[in-house]
Amino acid sequence: TRTHDEEDLPHATKKTMADHLRKYETLFTLTPQRMRIIVESFKETLELGLQKPEQIVPMIPTFVFGWPTGQEKGDYLAVDLGGTNLRVCLVTLQGEGKFEISQSKYRLTEEQKQEDGQKLFDFCAQCLKTFVDTSLADGSLSLKSGETLPLGFTFSYPCYQSRIDHGILIRWTKGFGALNTEGHDVAEMFRTSLAKYELPVTLTALINDTTGTLIASHYVNPNAKIAVIFGTGCNAAYMEKVSEITKINDLGIPGDEMMGINCEWGAFDSFEHEHLPRTKYDIIVDETSNKPGEQAFEKLISGRYLGEILRLVICELIDEGVLFLGQNTYKLENPYVFDTAFLSLMESDPTDELLMIIGIFSHFFAVETTLAERQFFRALAKLIGRRAARLSSCGIAAIVGRMGYLDNGERCDVGADGSLYNKYPGFADRVHEGLVDIFGEKGRKIVTHRAEDGSGVGSAIIAAMTKTRKEKCLY
Ligand code: GLC
Repeated sequence: TRTHDEEDLPHATKKTMADHLRKYETLFTLTPQRMRIIVESFKETLELGLQKPEQIVPMIPTFVFGWPTGQEKGDYLAVDLGGTNLRVCLVTLQGEGKFEISQSKYRLTEEQKQEDGQKLFDFCAQCLKTFVDTSLADGSLSLKSGETLPLGFTFSYPCYQSRIDHGILIRWTKGFGALNTEGHDVAEMFRTSLAKYELPVTLTALINDTTGTLIASHYVNPNAKIAVIFGTGCNAAYMEKVSEITKINDLGIPGDEMMGINCEWGAFDSFEHEHLPRTKYDIIVDETSNKPGEQAFEKLISGRYLGEILRLVICELIDEGVLFLGQNTYKLENPYVFDTAFLSLMESDPTDELLMIIGIFSHFFAVETTLAERQFFRALAKLIGRRAARLSSCGIAAIVGRMGYLDNGERCDVGADGSLYNKYPGFADRVHEGLVDIFGEKGRKIVTHRAEDGSGVGSAIIAAMTKTRKEKCLY
């Protein structure tokens, strides 16, 4: 790898890159005022979702009632299907907020995400079978004859639920598109696969990763009131009073019970695009996706899309003859080749010369960069990452505002998980900054924390809570 002297490359002087940057700054910057307007429309959307069925932001009642006691105990299996990997876990809840977990991960291929849904669930069952057999063989799990283990299925896509152990897939998100699955009960489909492989398990709960994160966070930190996932997708869950979920008034559940709500806020502003500031790059991301119009909020925030937004800006500047003149840029021209992890790496490059950025562009895309260009890329990553964080603050603020969590001076902890939150430098700080921009000083009372593993541990706790409720014969 070699770096150029600026004079070598007349096309990318410091001045021109700085000029371009100013344009993108205007496009990607969210003012506090604009954020507060977004929060207001977000609040209305949440309210509508609680009142009426089948809204764009569906505010899904999860049939997870109230908080765990921390005393939940026992062995539980969890299958976590939600993004890049499939994970199977054995969780031993020990009470007093303690647990042990062992797990295996399996990579999903692009074909598996698009082929027949039943085949995808068969694969999940097969992986679970391997895991259970291994755990039985090495003694980490023991089963009496005829005994079955309760299984929590974390399926992180929007599903309508009328019970905890059932869920009709509304739509695939995050690039999944497996056939014959939307509109079907995915718990039932998975049970069919579990039976095929004769697994000694009972699927007791179908949960979303946000709901799992909410419960797992609260298990170890009773101040946690909201859970947010910032990963391949972006979504949140919180606990709502049943009397406020007016669309399920007819179910006869006592109004003062609390129930977890999976907001599916990634769908905010879908189709109508009235509230969110979209750039032309966002519009291209949307229109070239497998689900145009959908998940409008998520497409501005989540890890699946940020790298692609940056790539589209770079491609525009290549077309305009500003970047990489005379170099072969074909490697940059394929959609989704620019991983969101590159944005984190670019932002965290500690060297003056920005050597990490040199490495990314030369190694993965076979192009050489000037220092001015690298500074520009880093600044651009920052703009896109910062916008994502600040938009997320708007979502969090809408829930906090709706629930009045700041009204009596108490703190409000937010359990957060996902690759963006855990690996993107400064992401959490920017979310916090955004909350202060919205609420002023009292916004400092809202603090995000790295959550416990909601999709594994949370799933197990919910399976345990469900078992207890069943024993008490509660709905
Ligand atoms: C997508 C899914 C949602 C999930 C989120 C985070 O938004 O629709 O169910 O919680 O990604 O994984």
